Amino acid sequence: MTIHTCSPVSAQPRRIVRWLLGSLRNVRARDTDWDGVRLHVVTGKGGTGKTTVAAALALALAADGRKVLLVEVEGRQGIAQVFDLPPLPYEERKIAVAPGGGDVYALAIDPEEAMLDYLEMFYGMRRAGKALTKMGVVDFATTIAPGFRDVLVTGKTSEAVRRKGKDGRRIYDAVVLDAPPTGRITRFLNVTTEVAELARMGPIKNHADLVNGVVASPETAVHFVTLLEEMPVQETLDGLDELRAAGLPPGGIFTNMVRESLLPASVLDDVGKDRFDPAELALGLKASGLADGSSDAAAVAEALAEEIAEHAHRTELERRERLSLAKAGRPRYELPLLADGVDLAGLYELAESIHTQGAA
Ligand SMILES: Nc1ncnc2c1ncn2[C@@H]1O[C@H](COP(=O)(O)OP(=O)(O)OP(=O)(O)O)[C@@H](O)[C@H]1O
Ligand SMILES: [Mg+2]
Repeated sequence: MTIHTCSPVSAQPRRIVRWLLGSLRNVRARDTDWDGVRLHVVTGKGGTGKTTVAAALALALAADGRKVLLVEVEGRQGIAQVFDLPPLPYEERKIAVAPGGGDVYALAIDPEEAMLDYLEMFYGMRRAGKALTKMGVVDFATTIAPGFRDVLVTGKTSEAVRRKGKDGRRIYDAVVLDAPPTGRITRFLNVTTEVAELARMGPIKNHADLVNGVVASPETAVHFVTLLEEMPVQETLDGLDELRAAGLPPGGIFTNMVRESLLPASVLDDVGKDRFDPAELALGLKASGLADGSSDAAAVAEALAEEIAEHAHRTELERRERLSLAKAGRPRYELPLLADGVDLAGLYELAESIHTQGAA
């Protein structure tokens, strides 16, 4: 397993070559940090880019002729938005082609539909379920018993992970779950404990056992998305601790929206040590003809110096957050802040970066 501290592209020429060769030969073997993992759960603080990273990871995992299912569970149509598609129905459907040929399927789980499925599957009660829905009883049940709702959703996901085709092989090479945020992730995945109160036997218990068999196994990795900021980093570290305490398998840390450093380390170091002199900058500006006259040069230099100080301060904070993340001892990957936001091309760019760093 590798710890990645460098920028995405500087990294792994060996892997790039292997990937390219793989595309040509359509080879199935891989050398990634997560070989053997079938369920990639993506969590993180709200707004850090969980849906974006889950989508890019699905694309990267599907490269070279693989088949990957991307699942969302919050009924917010985040996948459709990221892939610029109309709202997705509650069924598995192909939504994208991966680099080198490969398919990404998506499933937007609607917890209410999942409940109707469940009633039908185990009690032949779909009609009754429909009536119940009208009465709002489904809402009631899913609200008072969130563990029940979660086990249906994770059950559906686990079933897709384990599903086999006629040839006895798994249908999906991997499943990526755009999961609830860090604060809820352990409870969400820890279904056995959550439903223990609700059901000691019967279909719910079986469902919970299936989920537990998948999520508490080496087939699963729970990845965290973070930014280089104090709050999301702290949430990531707390989330990792919680996960370990619950016996769930921690994955990697995806630091998202990483900004390039605009200044050389020596300049940042000078600013940090208060050795940066705006007067010198003013002279330089004047000499290079970038400012007319001394007073103009002084004013420009002062404004620039302020921005440089701010940039240096931010870079220093980011350095500290990186260090905290490194201490967690998990594989780390950095994804760039895309200047134009995340369109489809941007998503493939992030997928490539994920691949180059060895996460897929
Ligand atoms: N690497 C990136 N570069 C630029 N913009 C990004 C990047 N990653 C995500 N974004 C943007 O940040 C916003 C939040 O991303 P996203 O919806 O993936 O986060 P989320 O964690 O899933 O949010 P929520 O908690 O609401 O589900 C979106 O507008 C997305 O396009
Ligand atoms: Mg999201």
